[in-house]
Amino acid sequence: MVKGGKKLCGEVTVSGAKNAAVAIIPAAILVDGVCTIENVPNIQDVKVIVSILKNMGASVEYIDAYTLRIDCRNVTKQEKPDEMMRKMRASYYLLGVLLGRFCEANVTMPGGCNFGSRPIDQHIKGFEALGATVHQNGDAIFATAEKLQGTSVYLDTVSVGATINIMLAAVLAEGTTEIENVAKEPHIVDLANFLNAMGANVKGAGTDVIKIKGVKSLRGGTYSIIPDQIEAGTFMVAAAATGGNVLVKNIIPKHMESVTAKLIETGAKVTEYDDSIRVEGAEEIEAVNIKTLPYPGFPTDMQPQIVALLSVAKGTSNVIEGVWDNRFQYVTELLKLGADVRVDGKKAVINGVASLTGTQVAATDLRGGAGMVIAGLMAQGVTEITELKHIDRGYEKFEEKFKALGADIQRVTY
Ligand code: EPU
Repeated sequence: MVKGGKKLCGEVTVSGAKNAAVAIIPAAILVDGVCTIENVPNIQDVKVIVSILKNMGASVEYIDAYTLRIDCRNVTKQEKPDEMMRKMRASYYLLGVLLGRFCEANVTMPGGCNFGSRPIDQHIKGFEALGATVHQNGDAIFATAEKLQGTSVYLDTVSVGATINIMLAAVLAEGTTEIENVAKEPHIVDLANFLNAMGANVKGAGTDVIKIKGVKSLRGGTYSIIPDQIEAGTFMVAAAATGGNVLVKNIIPKHMESVTAKLIETGAKVTEYDDSIRVEGAEEIEAVNIKTLPYPGFPTDMQPQIVALLSVAKGTSNVIEGVWDNRFQYVTELLKLGADVRVDGKKAVINGVASLTGTQVAATDLRGGAGMVIAGLMAQGVTEITELKHIDRGYEKFEEKFKALGADIQRVTY
């Protein structure tokens, strides 16, 4: 329940990156030793992947609220808990790690947010190039190989998941694997850094080509996950949306450049420091045009939040979704608050309105839910947001962090 109209002010500390954590934690399966992983976000998706690992025989314990100690030496090829696997998209990383470790993987097609079709053909292309045979039976995928042999793979689509999954399968393969046209998101670099810290030989992460020289084994070690780029961006947009003044801390400002640039175009004042960014909202929000793209472009995972902001901008904004087929489901909810947004395929035309008015809306997905919270913070009156389970998948202590910034927000349990 959000009562709009409060300017957010103060400081907020960003948690570890969800999309890095859900790749790095299963990557521990490849490690012949104990991994200590720091700055792990306390979110539902992490809880799910930890349960999956435990079910597979791994020893996973929290040393403190944000540090996980994982020992996967006892993991076997046994069946994975299907119901848990369906709960999150990132469970498909088990394909890469199990194939890498056992030359055999049997995984149920993952769930996650629904943005239209979410194919995994590029993951499979990579596994097959490494020498695996892959069969799909309904929502079950079975991959097996005599051995994995280094190879060259060109991705037809820039895919975060395929880049990560092929990297995971290739670290223990024989010889060198070169993956071309890869995704360059910060969490891809983070996974490569984690693997290298454990003894892998991965070069080029963050560029268009990743080169992996297979090693015999990985050893244990300690690694700290990067801050969450999207959580940081969400608070930056919320600060701008409420005309507030917020210091967003524990971030890597370089990762925020596309969001920073667009917020400045809307009229906000953005000041970068070494590991924090201050956003001061403007009295009047200017309309802007945006196209979401793979990193370093404007993140698709920031699209609903920025559309919420633009719904009260002066003038008309055009937002094109350049990554997913269908990521405007949340717009029907935004319309209930009085926004004027017309969606035509992958394009949304947003005519700024003078104000939004609170009512009951649903979080249609994780980032759509964050967009609703931002809209609620701007709206007149009370906005009730349901389906919080989507938000809890990826944001830690979301309402508590907003409350600390002065928002009138509370979680209501019926
Ligand atoms: N695609 C294919 N074939 C494939 C793989 C992807 O055609 O084999 C297409 C997809 O259909 C999509 C595009 O390529 O149109 C990009 O998909 P990608 O594989 O990059 O997405 P993903 O790995 O499934 C991750 C994040 C998403 C984020 C996207 C894009 C995780 C767990 N998820 O998904 O995050 O939107 O990259 O940046 O890392 C979120 O955090 O809210 C979220 C949805």
